[in-house]
Amino acid sequence: MCQIIDGKRISQEIKDELKEQMGKRRERGEGRCLAVIQVGKDPASTVYVNNKKKACEYIGIKSLSYELPEEATEQELLSIVEELNGRDDVDGILVQLPLPEHMNEDKVLLAIAPEKDVDGFHPINVGNLSIGRPGYVSCTPAGIIQLLKRSGIEIEGKECVVLGRSNIVGKPMAMLLLRENGTVTVCHSRTRNLKEITRRADILVVAVGKPRFVDAEYVKKGAIVVDVGIHRNEEGKLCGDVDFDSVAPLASAITPVPGGVGPMTIAMLMWNCVNGLD
Ligand code: GUN
Repeated sequence: MCQIIDGKRISQEIKDELKEQMGKRRERGEGRCLAVIQVGKDPASTVYVNNKKKACEYIGIKSLSYELPEEATEQELLSIVEELNGRDDVDGILVQLPLPEHMNEDKVLLAIAPEKDVDGFHPINVGNLSIGRPGYVSCTPAGIIQLLKRSGIEIEGKECVVLGRSNIVGKPMAMLLLRENGTVTVCHSRTRNLKEITRRADILVVAVGKPRFVDAEYVKKGAIVVDVGIHRNEEGKLCGDVDFDSVAPLASAITPVPGGVGPMTIAMLMWNCVNGLD
């Protein structure tokens, strides 16, 4: 029987724990404040930003909202980031990606003070993760570790294969699995004999950004399959990077889309906001 890993339930569990923690922090006079910046009106970004603000409200974190027009200059955005870096009443800064074409994403992310970088995208935080020092960790891969742990899945000693090498998911995912003592292989679009490698995986994390790319041929019997993708298919239904119907009969556990990895990203963002770097 294949276990369906319920990201909705686990993310709710985490948000409830954080809400309780925030209650205790507030009794000690410790509030938390997250500044969220969106440039332009990309509809998907608007949905994500609204969900982040809603989660803040649920947990008891103050949120500040900055909405810049698509035509705003990079300098305008950098000035807001600079101001927020210097404000003692702001604990976290999040610039929603993607940014408009005329802005340099790397430059903007580098401008966020590492100690306020709750997304974990700043090179200082990426570097700290890679050498095992404390720092903010990218929310989606951090959420996947929580999904596995809270589903009773052990990582230590397992063959872990990460399909995808993005800075936001693939690379930090590999680092986190390594930190949990997994044996990690990272595959990507240029990997030869891809199926041979993915078929070795006890834990397969798929973040390729292609709808239903991974089918049963990529998966070993009894593997645990984590699907990071989210797409709309021809009928307007949500689907992932994994062909769920083909893979589920073979896997011992799998994350569904929707309701798997997706809800965990915001839960871990909230975790970063509540816990800070302590
Ligand atoms: N765009 C898509 N995912 C994310 C995320 O996790 N953080 C930010 N800032 N932008 C995103």
